[in-house]
Amino acid sequence: MEKKDIDWSNLGFGYVKTDKRYVSNYKDGSWDEGCLTEDANIVLNECAGVLQYAQTVFEGLKAYTTEDGRIVCFRPDLNAARMVDSAKRLEMPAFPEDRFVEAVVETVKANAAYVPPYGSGATLYIRPYMFGSNPVIGVKPANEYQFRMFCTPVGPYFKGGAKPITIKVSDFDRAAPHGTGHIKAGLNYAMSLHAIVTAHAEGFDENMYLDAATRTKVEETGGANFIFITKDGTLVTPKSDSILPSITRRSLVDVASKILGMKVEHREVYFDEVKDFAECGLCGTAAVISPVGKIYDHGKEICFPSGMEDMGPVTKKLYDTLTGIQMGRIEGPEGWIKEIM
Ligand SMILES: Cc1ncc(COP(=O)(O)O)c(C=O)c1O
Repeated sequence: MEKKDIDWSNLGFGYVKTDKRYVSNYKDGSWDEGCLTEDANIVLNECAGVLQYAQTVFEGLKAYTTEDGRIVCFRPDLNAARMVDSAKRLEMPAFPEDRFVEAVVETVKANAAYVPPYGSGATLYIRPYMFGSNPVIGVKPANEYQFRMFCTPVGPYFKGGAKPITIKVSDFDRAAPHGTGHIKAGLNYAMSLHAIVTAHAEGFDENMYLDAATRTKVEETGGANFIFITKDGTLVTPKSDSILPSITRRSLVDVASKILGMKVEHREVYFDEVKDFAECGLCGTAAVISPVGKIYDHGKEICFPSGMEDMGPVTKKLYDTLTGIQMGRIEGPEGWIKEIM
């Protein structure tokens, strides 16, 4: 298969229209059989549920070329399961998990010419999503839905290496206790836009959100979970009912405990103890791990001993092992790599 003529190493994280996308519609209580289409546009009634009451959930995962030339993706079954959880919380019908994974395979195969080559650092980002499509004017769930999945080639998250970033403790809250912080719903991201634009305007790369009820515990950023490394090399990940269960974080916990033989703690993390950690990072599909060098908290700074030049040594080991598994250089746990072609 001939690849598209794309300057892979100069791609940003943006939308590039590819050839095919997957669509399935839900009506009268069931999903239709679904198909690939070339049409990238959606025509909706002006009163569609998604447009009025934001009834929409989504996922994000990547396909890439391994060292030996296969096209694979990473743990799509976990994205499928998380999307079911997200849908249920917004009173939407679940899209069957096996069909989700089949749709990933079909969509990536149909756009194989857009999967960046091994070594380019670029990947094919896959965006599954669903939304209420029929007119809804009283506040209630829609009864018709559309599930779609498109993909777009995206550039290396870090151009020229992963430099540690500076984040600030946000004055805004991301998610309420017993709210929707644990699901991947568009509404969580709409309300985070003002906070991230504000943080950027102040010169910070990201926000650290604390728990909304007490503002004493670490939650996550707008698009990634936290990992911390203690001075004696333990991986600590914040536990909360109002953060998204990151697939990258859950995978790093397994890499740390089962492959690297590290001690792991998944527990509530008080902001007061953050100054005592040796390393800090953000984890998610986009960057795998972004190292955090500095946290700004209302006039005070926490500077991690790992500094502002490089990833800390333990973070680097975790990063190298997980990306090694993803790229087929290291054998990972069974079922982590889904071969597409
Ligand atoms: C709010 C939030 N937290 C965490 C993550 C990381 O999750 P994952 O590792 O599944 O990409 C994401 C990105 O998907 C996110 O949007």
